[in-house]
Amino acid sequence: MSEHPGLVPAPGHYRARTGQLTLEGRVGLSSDDSAAPSATLLAEILTRAGVSVQVVAPGEPATVALHIDSGISAQPEGYRIDITGERAVLTGASADGLARAVQTVRQLLPADALRHAPVTGAPPLPCCEIEDAPRFGWRGVHIDVARHFLPVHSVLRSIDLAALHRLNVVHLHLTDDQGWRLDVPTHPLLAERASWRAETVVGRDAGFDGTPHGGYYSAADIREIVEYASRRRITIVPEVDLPGHVQSVLAAYPELGNTGQPVEVRRTWGISENVLAPTEEALTFAKEVLDVLIELFPGPWVHIGGDEVPRTEWRASEAAAARASELGLASVDELQSWFLRELHAYLAAHGRRAVGWDEILDDGGMPADTIVTAWRGAEHAVQGLTAGHDVVMATKWVTYLDYASSDDPDEPIAQRRIITLADILSWEPEPAEAPDLPGQVLGVQAQLWSEFLPTAREVEYAAFPRLCAVAEAGWSAPESRTDLMDRLPAHLSRLTALGVNYRPLAGPHPWQRGGTGRRRH
Ligand code: ACM
Repeated sequence: MSEHPGLVPAPGHYRARTGQLTLEGRVGLSSDDSAAPSATLLAEILTRAGVSVQVVAPGEPATVALHIDSGISAQPEGYRIDITGERAVLTGASADGLARAVQTVRQLLPADALRHAPVTGAPPLPCCEIEDAPRFGWRGVHIDVARHFLPVHSVLRSIDLAALHRLNVVHLHLTDDQGWRLDVPTHPLLAERASWRAETVVGRDAGFDGTPHGGYYSAADIREIVEYASRRRITIVPEVDLPGHVQSVLAAYPELGNTGQPVEVRRTWGISENVLAPTEEALTFAKEVLDVLIELFPGPWVHIGGDEVPRTEWRASEAAAARASELGLASVDELQSWFLRELHAYLAAHGRRAVGWDEILDDGGMPADTIVTAWRGAEHAVQGLTAGHDVVMATKWVTYLDYASSDDPDEPIAQRRIITLADILSWEPEPAEAPDLPGQVLGVQAQLWSEFLPTAREVEYAAFPRLCAVAEAGWSAPESRTDLMDRLPAHLSRLTALGVNYRPLAGPHPWQRGGTGRRRH
């Protein structure tokens, strides 16, 4: 068992000291001006833990002090924590590092103190010295609010749980065949029509539930999400999936498609053959959507999708063939990269970097500064790195947490593959060839596609505890990752205190299986 009290992810260096710091009476908390946002968050965490926090001016004696000092680590997310019987000092190499330190202190509190209920008493922190920095700069979790919409409060909770695990990216999959979740004022029918489907297939293919499903985020909702994430130093990567996965768009604006035929917002899973037409009108539509993302999401990255774009409609369309030849493309198949290159250029002109699923490497490819989320397998990551792209390891065989956790019949209905906790524990994210290739592995990302995860409750059950292991693959050095199973019981007490619906280590809850339609399947 590690020397430290079950921290997840494992920190780089932890030295236990004897004794503890008891946070009793009025506890003074001070911070440098630049450390103030993290100080506010820590004050909230401690207050909820029953501590009587009193913010004091910088330089005044304080039991808890927060600083930023770029000299302590070469990595901006590096931090130090120094806890004695008298005080706790948190130092971040940047505001990002300090935000990570706050989450580690949150884990050092007794698990009970994480409850969202009023607590009385004086929680202790163990005396210790921590020096820590992440292995990778991109540690993400992808949430699919398109297949099943999540209300704002559930998105905020997901962000907070990501922060607890020192993740720094939340990728929001905002659009798909089954629903469009973003208000775009130039195209009001997206919010009005494309955001709702009439009903949803039950299980894989067992009839329909007869219940409309939908919802979308207003600009005010997005601002709330971004602000909440920013206080935790988490970047939201918004995704609009183009030029495929747009059946919901075509339900509202059929003129943007290849056939002009009306379609419905898709009620079943799988890949729709309805894709955008390669027209100026469709390109203008896409750019007007990007305008909204650029305005609302301040982060450096915008994900433009690019996965699973059937060429069926383009191959059957004389207009698409004429367009491809006018553009000097070898075939209609290259319309995909033409379209996405146009969006890349538009984003670049607005100071944003495009991100896409690994199919963007096919049929013409993309400019080398496009980031690739490599999902189909490590070989696609290597293909991207070879072409000079920076790559996020989102390998489906390891990081698709919507896949089942085991072959136990009590597991909820899920995608057909199995990803066990052990599979993730033994995962080395960086392909062996990576150090010799021009592109860089930026980090790792877990995916929570939501076809079979209809509510936040099911999302949590799929996510935890496997997300703990993905977070650790992104943060911790390989040699520190060996004892996660020893640390998890202590960590699961924290998740229990937070009310997280995690899957027990011993196996699935029998009652969980009914929740996603399995019994009707
Ligand atoms: C994907 O799973 N289609 C990225």
